Amino acid sequence: MRCPPLLLTLVLALATYTAATIEEKDYWMNLGRSHLEHVLSKQPNTNLAKNVILFVGDGMGLATVTAARIFKGQQQGMEGAEKGSLVWETFPDVGLVKTYNVDKQVPDSAGTGTAIFTGVKTNMGVVGVDARVPKGKCDATQVKKASLDSIMQWAQASGKLTGFVTTTRVTHATPSSTYARSPHREWECNAKIPIGATNCVKDIARQLIEDEPGRNLRVIFGGGLSPMGVANYTGPDEEVCKRTDGRNLADEWVRDKESAGVRATFVRNNGELARVTPGEHDAVMGLFATNHMEYDAERDQGPEGSPSLLNMTTTAMRLLQKGPNGFLLMVEGGLIDQAHHQNYARLALMETVGMEATVQAVLEMTSREDTLVIVTADHSHTMTMNGYPARGNDILGMAHNSTKKQLFETLTYANGPGHYDHLNNATDRSSVYLDPSQMANRSDIHYRHFAPIGIKSETHGGEDIAVYAIGPFSHLFNGVHEQNYIAHAISCAGQFGPNADMCKSTKSAASGFGSKAHPIAIMLIFTFVRITLL
Ligand SMILES: *[C@@H]1O[C@H](CO)[C@@H](O)[C@H](O)[C@H]1NC(C)=O
Ligand SMILES: *[C@@H]1O[C@H](CO)[C@@H](O)[C@H](O)[C@H]1NC(C)=O
Ligand SMILES: *[C@@H]1O[C@H](CO)[C@@H](O)[C@H](O)[C@H]1NC(C)=O
Ligand SMILES: *[C@@H]1O[C@H](CO)[C@@H](O)[C@H](O)[C@H]1NC(C)=O
Ligand SMILES: *[C@@H]1O[C@H](CO)[C@@H](O)[C@H](O)[C@H]1NC(C)=O
Ligand SMILES: [Zn+2]
Repeated sequence: MRCPPLLLTLVLALATYTAATIEEKDYWMNLGRSHLEHVLSKQPNTNLAKNVILFVGDGMGLATVTAARIFKGQQQGMEGAEKGSLVWETFPDVGLVKTYNVDKQVPDSAGTGTAIFTGVKTNMGVVGVDARVPKGKCDATQVKKASLDSIMQWAQASGKLTGFVTTTRVTHATPSSTYARSPHREWECNAKIPIGATNCVKDIARQLIEDEPGRNLRVIFGGGLSPMGVANYTGPDEEVCKRTDGRNLADEWVRDKESAGVRATFVRNNGELARVTPGEHDAVMGLFATNHMEYDAERDQGPEGSPSLLNMTTTAMRLLQKGPNGFLLMVEGGLIDQAHHQNYARLALMETVGMEATVQAVLEMTSREDTLVIVTADHSHTMTMNGYPARGNDILGMAHNSTKKQLFETLTYANGPGHYDHLNNATDRSSVYLDPSQMANRSDIHYRHFAPIGIKSETHGGEDIAVYAIGPFSHLFNGVHEQNYIAHAISCAGQFGPNADMCKSTKSAASGFGSKAHPIAIMLIFTFVRITLL
């Protein structure tokens, strides 16, 4: 991508904004024209993507992206924050992604993660195996036949360093889809594998440290001390897997690396993470919570506390940038999804903005010439942005001002636990629901937005999500794609894995013989066919 330099763009944009006010037609005519010039100036970048960084905002549907854009602007005191953008919204290429699983209209993170990382769509709830394996059904022969290789494996085979960073447990659905094969996403530790299936597959945590490609990962950052057998469960929220075999997989991982001459270390908190240096360490496992990590807004930032997604990612980058053949890093903003499941709209937006800061940091540490950065989601949620709130209205506020109509919030969920918080339980009640504008704890991060259907955990949404890309071959993301296409595009751009050769010849073809060959070849074939037919 060779766009006009950022400064020039800013100056142009500034000139545009000062020339006319938003009410005047000139404002919009100038804005439209300058964006058109920007789009016309785009050139495809056909360099080799030596490095690939893939961000997955778990559950980051389009309503979340739009709301986070406005939320971020409003937090910064920006006037008319609707016109702002998150950093990935300035990327040159964008596509839409169909997220359905082979067996479900609305997907889960295991099925979608498998599609993104292996190039094969599968069933909901299974990890790293194709849809011949029904969820929870363990037939050793079938699982073996259905096993998939991931982009991590493809990258490792071509000599790249690999790793992942997540804010969930390292054995949770999204990260495990990069390295594991299991008929059930919840078989994270030995205790969760049902009797009868124990001889069929290893638990996901063991696969991470014993099998390919997990054991070759150079960076593993996230939560999950419990499934890895490091400590007792004390963490928040979701049920967690507790090992019963007495194994400490983090210790075993370090010993396995060291016996292979790889300088490895295991870290548990900010203080220990800060002591990691690329000069002294080649492989680092960081487990910063028993279960999932804490929301960025709630974590202890001190030396005993846990790092932000940004800190984990920049540390990971420094370790992976050592490799002469480039690297592949997957970064998951995993708590966007966790927050939505609780109808915590504010937290979901905060986590999205936290991931944006991480994307920004990654862009600053890399070059557009050799690094492909992709930002996508695995699936959406049921949060919708609705009503006709005034421009500049608090994105977390009410959708209208009228005293004559029932009040509701701009960000409303279709279902979830927020339903119960909004019930009017008074015996002499005049309405089914409480007035949301009068709820005292609206600004609390644990305030639940309204949902008309009450269920314990809000569900995912099934509409398309977006994929944004910048760097070599970012133009492969353009149009409406099946989700499994993402792995194929990465393979092409990075020239590793099954499509390693498909992006190779493009550069010479565009400038030399290739571009003329097509019309000539087509003419020859056409002539040949005509002669044959006559
Ligand atoms: C778990 O907690 C129990 C009781 O507090 C303790 O006896 C045991 O040593 C702990 N196990 C680990 C692995 O920390
Ligand atoms: C995390 O990031 C902050 C801000 O960039 C920095 O001050 C801090 O030292 C980092 N902590 C670690 C453990 O890297
Ligand atoms: C309600 O009116 C106030 C004052 O005009 C305005 O600031 C606010 O954004 C309006 N809210 C909605 C939801 O339109
Ligand atoms: C109303 O009652 C339901 C059912 O007992 C409960 O779950 C909910 O929390 C209550 N809501 C409020 C706002 O008190
Ligand atoms: C917010 O208020 C509602 C109703 O008043 C209550 O049910 C809920 O527990 C409160 N939430 C928090 C986080 O305090
Ligand atoms: Zn989810």
